[in-house]
Amino acid sequence: MVDVKSICCIGAGYVGGPTCAVIAYKCHDIKVTIVDLNQARIDAWNSDKLPIYEPGLEEVVFDRRGKNLFFTTDVDAAILEADLIFVSVNTPTKKTGMGAGMAADLAYIEGATRRIAEIATSSKIVVEKSTVPCRTAESMRTILEANSTGSIHFDILSNPEFLAEGTAIKDLLNPDRVLIGALQTPTGLSAQQSLANVYKHWVPEDRVITTNLWSSELSKLAANALLAQRISSINALSAICEATGADVDEVAYACGRDSRLGSKFLKASVGFGGSCFQKDILNLVYLSTQLNLPEVADYWHQVVLMNEYQKKRFVRKIISTLFNTITNKRIAVLGFAFKKDTGDTRESAAITLIKDFIQENAHVAIYDPKVEPEQIYMDLMEPGVVDTRKQVEKSISICGDAYEACKGADAVVIVTEWDEFKSDQLDYQRIYDNMHKPAFLFDGRLLLDAAQIREIGFKVHIIGKNELAGTA
Ligand code: UDX
Ligand code: ADP
Repeated sequence: MVDVKSICCIGAGYVGGPTCAVIAYKCHDIKVTIVDLNQARIDAWNSDKLPIYEPGLEEVVFDRRGKNLFFTTDVDAAILEADLIFVSVNTPTKKTGMGAGMAADLAYIEGATRRIAEIATSSKIVVEKSTVPCRTAESMRTILEANSTGSIHFDILSNPEFLAEGTAIKDLLNPDRVLIGALQTPTGLSAQQSLANVYKHWVPEDRVITTNLWSSELSKLAANALLAQRISSINALSAICEATGADVDEVAYACGRDSRLGSKFLKASVGFGGSCFQKDILNLVYLSTQLNLPEVADYWHQVVLMNEYQKKRFVRKIISTLFNTITNKRIAVLGFAFKKDTGDTRESAAITLIKDFIQENAHVAIYDPKVEPEQIYMDLMEPGVVDTRKQVEKSISICGDAYEACKGADAVVIVTEWDEFKSDQLDYQRIYDNMHKPAFLFDGRLLLDAAQIREIGFKVHIIGKNELAGTA
């Protein structure tokens, strides 16, 4: 069994960066080198302003950087030195070609794998960290084996990452489980044990689960699909609540108290976002289709379709409430990130909503505590449209705080559940006083106490709640 003393992580993104920083933080006897082709990203990791925002990340990085944690673009040197290599590159949904819009683009995985095969002069344990379609490890193995010489041996492991953004450091320090899949061969099992020993520096032994490679790969897709399915289920119920006077929070609480169901991931919302849920489900749908399982594909696809429906339903509600037109009206959008405590905007519901508002010729005033203005422009621009940047600039203003965004607005729309938007943190009376009347407020995150806000004078719509609830 290899006693891992040097780790290389290819890909310094949302997954690779925090994961390997925590390994360095917990394993002072292991040298951890995180590499990326993107010089700007590496420079940021080496600076005072890290490229991603995660509570607790700075403490971990600043504690170990320059000691046993290094960030560099020298991919080859890190590969040469490592006993174990994490592959944490991006696997976006394919935009063109076979499986476009559904399948994962494995070009980056293949690129990184080929580099390892080319450069390595000693045996390595290669670990899939990125979320990948089931059986990707097989392709990686074929590439590595085809390029290895007699004395060099590669073992492939699957070690999917279950961290959620915004709580990444907490999740990494105290994971529910660590999953390591391996080929059931003597060297595969030995490599599995080597990686398990790395995690045993801080993760209790009974939380390290070992499986075969394919179970591990599929479990990651399955876990995300099951989590997203719960959100789509409660969101589907939120539509029924609005139509009947049931309260979605009360329904979620009543159901969640059943220990068989549990209370987590039953918060209705304007729709789930993030880099994983939609991508992984579409991946599962594609896999099912490829396996000639159309009913299975349709079943999972419905989770994504329900998510789209929820976003569109919310937009429709806003427009119809504002007397069927938002043309030339100022709509204040509070929150742009896909969830609180992150600056990540990938697949954020805010993007869909704001694009729809712009289509309706509204002026959108946006405030988010963590998202950079440049990111907002990038997300709202339409590829291939002439003057798209100018059009976006004309249609939106990016504001320095919530009060500025809401000033002169006809409606306020809460899209991200940042704590600072809660009723006890933001002065809603001040917001109301500075808005056009009637002043509308749409809460897409069940963040506010409706009675309190109505008392001020707002006309309020909250997802999954009916204005007339409790009156009949
Ligand atoms: C998810 C998985 O939780 C994590 O295990 C996996 O490794 C990556 O994908 P992440 O996307 O970072 O993590 O965040 P998550 O907390 O799962 O939230 C995803 C989306 O669902 C967010 O937009 C969030 O606001 C939304 N959500 C979550 C709800 O709308 N309701 C809920 O009850 C929970
Ligand atoms: P994730 O959310 O999965 O971490 P990101 O897009 O945030 O995804 O990060 C993936 C990183 O992997 C990017 O910074 C990208 O530059 C990097 N990357 C992709 N291919 C390679 C490669 N062959 N070598 C080094 N880095 C790579």
